[in-house]
Amino acid sequence: MKICRTKKDIRDTVRAFQAEGLTVGLVPTMGYLHDGHMTLVRTAKANADRVIASIFVNPTQFGDAADLDAYPRDEARDFALLEAEGVDAVFCPSVEEMYHPQKQTTVLTEDLDKVLMGALRPGHFKGVCTVVSKLFNITGADKAFFGEKDYQQLLVIKTMVRDLDIPVEVTGVPTVREVDGLAMSSRNVRLTPEDRKAALILNKALAYADYEASDGRTAVELEEQIRAFIAREPRAQLESVDVRDAATLETVDGKIAGPVVILLAARFGDVLLIDQRVADPS
Ligand code: PAJ
Repeated sequence: MKICRTKKDIRDTVRAFQAEGLTVGLVPTMGYLHDGHMTLVRTAKANADRVIASIFVNPTQFGDAADLDAYPRDEARDFALLEAEGVDAVFCPSVEEMYHPQKQTTVLTEDLDKVLMGALRPGHFKGVCTVVSKLFNITGADKAFFGEKDYQQLLVIKTMVRDLDIPVEVTGVPTVREVDGLAMSSRNVRLTPEDRKAALILNKALAYADYEASDGRTAVELEEQIRAFIAREPRAQLESVDVRDAATLETVDGKIAGPVVILLAARFGDVLLIDQRVADPS
C-alpha cells in the first residue's frame, strides 16, 4: 500500500491507475478506523478497480478546539487495517499540506447547511464540503463512498456534487453496527462503560420509532414519542430528534405517508453521538 503525504503524490498515483484504464474509488475518513469504515472500503473494492482512502482530521469542520484535540488518532493501526483490506494507496496530508495559509474559498450548500446538525454545529458542513471537494479535486477519483450514518453529510455531499458538476459518482453505504446495535463510531472509545451501555437507547429508540411511524402518526407526534422514550435513559442528554423527508430533509406536514428519516443526536458525558434510520410506512 502506497502512503502519500502530498497532494502531488496521491494525484500521480491515481492518474497512473487511470492511465491503465482502471477506475479509482475513494473512501474519505478522519482515521481511527473501525468496521464501519472498512465496510466502505469493501464496498469500494467491489465497485472500483483500485481503492484509495484518505485519513485527515479536518480542523475546519470542528466547532470547538477541545473536540478536535480529543479526536482519537492511530495512524499505524489505520495503515495496517487498510493494508490488510487490500487498499492500494492512502492519502494522509498534514494540515499545512491540505490548506493554503491564505485560503479564502469555501464550499457551502446553502439550505442544507443551516438545518439539523448544521444548526447544532454552525460551520460544520461548510468544513465538510470544502474538504471533500478538495479531496475530489486532489485525487481525481472516479467514485467515492460515504456512510448513511452521517445522513445529512451524505445528502450535503451529493447535493454539492450535483450543483458543482464534480465528476465523481457518490455511493451511500448503510450504517454498520456493533452486535448490540450501537452504530460504530470513532467516538465510541471515549464513552465510559456506563455510557457505552446507556447509548444503546439510540438504536432502540430508532426501532421503536420505525414501528410507530407506520401507525398514522404525524412527524411532530413521532418526535414527541421518541423524546419520551429516550427520557427513560437518564444518562442520555438528548440534543435533537428530527423526523424529516428522507430525500430532502424537509419537515413533513400531516400524517407520515412516505419515507422519512429519523435523526438522533445525544450526548453521553461529553461524547456526542448521532444515529439515523429510514422508515417507510407506505
Ligand atoms: P469519519 O467520521 O471518519 O467517517 C468516514 C466515513 O465513514 C463517513 O462517510 C461516515 O459516514 C462513514 N461511517 C462512519 N461510521 C459508520 C458506520 N457505523 N457505518 C457506516 N459508515 C460509517 O465523516 C467523516 O469522517 C468526515 O466528515 C469526512 C467525510 C472524512 C470529511 O472530513
